[in-house]
Amino acid sequence: MELAYKKQNCCDLGEENIGEVALLAGWASTIRDLGGIIFVEVRDRSGYFQVVADPKINPQVYETFQKLKSEYVIQVKGKVSKRPPDTINDKLKTGTIEMYPDEINILSASKTLPFVLDDGDVSEDIKLKYRYLDLRSEKMLKNLTLRHNIVTSIRSYMNSLGFLEVETPILIKTTPEGARDYLVPSRVHDGKFYALPQSPQVFKQLLMVGGIEKYYQIAKCFRDEDLRADRQPEFTQVDIEMSFVNQDDVIKTTEGLVKEAFKAAGVEINPPFKRITWQEAMDKYGSDKPDTRFGLELFDVTDIMAASTFEAFKGVISKGGTVRAIKIPNIAHYSRKEMDDVRNLAIKFGAKGLAWVTYMEDGTVKSPVFKFLNEEQINEIQKRADAKKGDIVFFVADMPKVVFDVLGRFRLYFGEKLGLIDKDKHDLLWVVDFPLFEYSTEDDRFVSVHHPFTMPRYEDLDKLENDKGNVKSIAYDIVYNGCELGGGSIRIHDAGIQERVFRALGLSEEDIKEKFEFLVQAFQYGTPPHGGLAIGLDRLVALLTRSESIRDVIAFPKNSQAKDLMSDAPGNATEEQLRELHIKLRNPKV
Ligand code: AMO
Ligand code: AMP
Repeated sequence: MELAYKKQNCCDLGEENIGEVALLAGWASTIRDLGGIIFVEVRDRSGYFQVVADPKINPQVYETFQKLKSEYVIQVKGKVSKRPPDTINDKLKTGTIEMYPDEINILSASKTLPFVLDDGDVSEDIKLKYRYLDLRSEKMLKNLTLRHNIVTSIRSYMNSLGFLEVETPILIKTTPEGARDYLVPSRVHDGKFYALPQSPQVFKQLLMVGGIEKYYQIAKCFRDEDLRADRQPEFTQVDIEMSFVNQDDVIKTTEGLVKEAFKAAGVEINPPFKRITWQEAMDKYGSDKPDTRFGLELFDVTDIMAASTFEAFKGVISKGGTVRAIKIPNIAHYSRKEMDDVRNLAIKFGAKGLAWVTYMEDGTVKSPVFKFLNEEQINEIQKRADAKKGDIVFFVADMPKVVFDVLGRFRLYFGEKLGLIDKDKHDLLWVVDFPLFEYSTEDDRFVSVHHPFTMPRYEDLDKLENDKGNVKSIAYDIVYNGCELGGGSIRIHDAGIQERVFRALGLSEEDIKEKFEFLVQAFQYGTPPHGGLAIGLDRLVALLTRSESIRDVIAFPKNSQAKDLMSDAPGNATEEQLRELHIKLRNPKV
């Protein structure tokens, strides 16, 4: 597209344009003065193009070239010419051509940049402070371009299936996703607050009541939670909801979407993806987002330990705990110090202790807990572990949540350390049959694993009142290389079941009224069976660009303290603003 300031992009030009006049505009990226001749690489979004000034050819142009500094914005006009063979640059798309401009205009000057673009050693804080400059780096341009291509492919896929993209509000009441809300004080309504959506969950369900049938949205979500490399306070979901569907329909639709998104990133994947139950994921991998690119599966030894004389383990088991084990190959040679480190790691991960059996290379077997076990029990452990010379089997005893968490993290640690993970693999799977509730010791009651509108499995409905811990739900997560990419569920569309779930959660009539009255009311007017899911777009793009953090695929992210280092948000409010918002600060900072 021809523009007032530029007729071509740098990389639109090729040898076929030799002899034609081009008008380029961009940034002077590298400037080299080689004995009176100045070479400048002009950079625009498409790439680089070399322009040259020789005082013997055009003294006026040369004079302007002499004023150029790195990152000046310039415009050049002139004939495209072939480079002499000794200056050909194979690394550049335009490496065989150049231009001796007839005209050069400096459109804007630049101060010296605070860091060198694309320098991997610059601290992330500096890059975030000058994010607009970091966006000029090849990495950021590549990531944002891929993000755009992925979003485009998703939109086109969803549109082709007849989905409507509908926007849902940002100023809302509250969302039942379980993180903390960001609140926005109301000026008009004294003492009242809007919440920013943690997801469009409630609205997309209301769209189903509204007869939209197939909805999607590239939706901004806001969650005030502890940040990690794969979390941001504001992030983007590909949010989907469908009417008249069961779990298979949602899974199939999503698999097609994920296939298209991967294709946009140049990766071929072939659905259907494997499905494993939540229970199997926990039992084998100690995680609800298992990385199944490698083995090291956990196994159960609760029965063996219950029959032993090891009081510490028996005590745990009698209180509802479990004892699980993992076999790590080829580490029997570990020194005492290395074993101490492993034990400390287990304790850091939350274990109360770590027990083990070492199968030495010389055929002897050692263990600090053998004194509590008889020969049969010792043999049974070896058999279950399929332990060979060089292996160590580790045991953790605790409540299931702790045991799985510790051994799951152990598994990942050793998988990485022993180089067992094939980094070129694209391992996609569904985890299904999540528990509907989990017990919160903090709140001393059952809470929703997903949200309170998740449908219990039909066969578990009669456990809602008396066996809550064993109710499974029609909820599913999609996992990619051990990362949770997205999740969703079939929703409750039956007022009776919804009421039983609210009751199981210990919500009072008032709680329900306060939080969800409009939803419960809406559901009384003909609600289609419906379900959906949301994919974390930032995570998807980060994984496909192999970025360490989702910050690398967001144009203007917050840092790990939820701050925008560039604009210095969050900032102070003036006295006047606070007064209008009816807010008085408890601990005003000067
Ligand atoms: P959920 O809470 O599992 O489900 O979120 C769906 C996906 O969104 C991504 N995600 C995040 N990405 C970046 N930063 C965050 N802070 C963050 N939190 C979540 C994850 C996650 O898998 N309404 C339901 C979906 C549904 O039931 O349809 C929901 O929001 O990739
Ligand atoms: P003790 O007899 O208490 O010294 O424990 C013997 C071994 O069992 C030690 O190696 C402890 O670290 C280990 N151990 C103790 N409690 C646990 C536990 N809950 N899970 C795993 N190992 C444990």
